[in-house]
Amino acid sequence: MPLAGRRILLVIAGGIAAYKCLELIRRLRERGVSVRCVLTKAGAHFVTPMSLAALSEQPVHEDLFALTDDFGMSHIRASREADLLVVAPATANLIAKMAHGLADDLASTLLLASDKPILLAPSMNVVMWRHPATQANLAILHGRGVLQVGPGAGELACGEEGDGRLAEVPQIIAAVEAALGGAGPLAGRRALVTSGPTVEPIDPVRYIANRSSGKQGHAIAQALQELGASVTLVSGPVHLPDPTGVTVVKVETAREMLAACQAALPADLAVCAAAVADWRVAAPSAEKTKKADGVPPPTLQMVANPDILATLAAPGPARPKLVVGFAAETENLIDHAKAKLARKGCDLIVANDVSPSSGTFGGDDNQVHLVGAGGVEAWPPLSKVLVARRLAAHLAELLKGNV
Ligand code: CTP
Repeated sequence: MPLAGRRILLVIAGGIAAYKCLELIRRLRERGVSVRCVLTKAGAHFVTPMSLAALSEQPVHEDLFALTDDFGMSHIRASREADLLVVAPATANLIAKMAHGLADDLASTLLLASDKPILLAPSMNVVMWRHPATQANLAILHGRGVLQVGPGAGELACGEEGDGRLAEVPQIIAAVEAALGGAGPLAGRRALVTSGPTVEPIDPVRYIANRSSGKQGHAIAQALQELGASVTLVSGPVHLPDPTGVTVVKVETAREMLAACQAALPADLAVCAAAVADWRVAAPSAEKTKKADGVPPPTLQMVANPDILATLAAPGPARPKLVVGFAAETENLIDHAKAKLARKGCDLIVANDVSPSSGTFGGDDNQVHLVGAGGVEAWPPLSKVLVARRLAAHLAELLKGNV
């Protein structure tokens, strides 16, 4: 029982899903985890301190200034005694307070005063979840190393449909295990992920690039890490924070990306999500190309770049057990993906439509089809983070049968 003896401080904020934390406490207690609960004022509308105290077998803390409770005043010690702080449900409000360093009640003060890992299990209405303010706040927190599990998609308590459901209890427990010691299904596995665009110089100031944001590849690296894998992310230039707990190697050109991937081998699993430039300028100019009256615009002579996916998937002792590619297409998605699966020699292709109308390039959502030897699996439209989590879980399953 890897979790036995570990101490969790569970912060319960105000949301209808707060009732699920009762089940969470029971399952954690069964695993020998000590759970101390902190309830926000809003949380107390959804779950009673009495039930929390009964299940956790510890006093429940609600007030920063309670005279009868020395916990609030010694919040710094209290937050540091825990091995992990879990916020479930994490509401949009509490996430916003954490992102901006507010400490106006016991829960937010403990979270600000802690130097321990924090795992958020967000739960809220889909519009609140997708609101740029919430996503920007989460990006700030991810940048600071805060971990996240869920939310899932489905019917929400408010009657709407979409992302925003609190992760299921087993998923939260798996994330707790991963946060506390890499006991997830990919523990002990090494994963390599490529992400973002590559840029190919024309001269010292100009380059050829593409519209890839790196959001999908970065989310995959994070999701694999959350399942316990030891992940190397080789990324072209992107405007994203580094995923937490992941080794990030930053490159510019396709040739640098290939060299970094080869240096990261051996790996059990490789996911090539980067939008690699197919061609580079044959002889980039060492000096900035100047224009002059009467001189025609330069013609660029291009040469083919190495195919990183095909190189990693080529048979040989260094081939990862599972090699996954992406197919970015603007038409005939499945046919092109099937052709790529064969041409590249990989085990699976994640096919996505990147035509301008899809909003995939640079956007937060993605709709993918998994194309493998066994056939085609269509996934519903999901956020890129959810595509990543579902893909990571799928790959963990595939690896299980492939020791
Ligand atoms: N890929 C790669 N190295 C390249 C080109 C592509 O590793 N030089 C990988 C991508 O990371 C992706 C897959 O190959 O996993 C397919 O990329 P995509 O751009 O869709 O296809 P291409 O191979 O470039 O083919 P085309 O441009 O003709 O669609």
